Amino acid sequence: MRRMLALAAFSALALSAGAVLAQDPISAREPTMKNIGRAFGAINRMNRGQDSFDAAKATEAFHTISANAKTFSTLFPDSAKTGDKNARPEIWTQKTDFDARVKKLAADAEAAATATAKGEADFKTSFAAVQPQCGGCHQVYRNE
Ligand code: HEC
Repeated sequence: MRRMLALAAFSALALSAGAVLAQDPISAREPTMKNIGRAFGAINRMNRGQDSFDAAKATEAFHTISANAKTFSTLFPDSAKTGDKNARPEIWTQKTDFDARVKKLAADAEAAATATAKGEADFKTSFAAVQPQCGGCHQVYRNE
């Protein structure tokens, strides 16, 4: 009986540890950016003509980028400055610039989703506006 109680207490502890982990901003960064990367891959192929243009899929991809950029912007609190080898300390020393870049990506991807519904030419124009933001931010704030 004592052992069972101890076991129950242990599982409750493990469960709450799991819940804390799921909310840990550091471990949420990679999957959030991966969602952006996957969505970007799909529209990148359409932009290059490797896949044919599909307005619905491209619109969805831009929505995914925007939504995940909004999430990403919440994952860099002062309490999570260390312990992530991919995030450079400049994120916090130049927080205004970093935040502005994430916000711009979310806004431009949202605008791109709307523009894409008008057709391929508008898709390409909006893609060209979003694409340089990825590498632009990575160069300054991300360790490869
Ligand atoms: C405002 C800055 C910023 C912008 C804009 C940005 N990223 Fe990132 N990205 C980061 C940071 C920081 C990391 C490292 C995250 C981490 O793991 O801590 C990252 C990581 C990644 C990763 C690696 C995820 C992994 O597997 O570890 C991919 C893929 C990625 N970004 C794709 C993109 C694409 C595609 C775009 C443009 C649509 C983009 N990013 C725009 C900051 C940015």
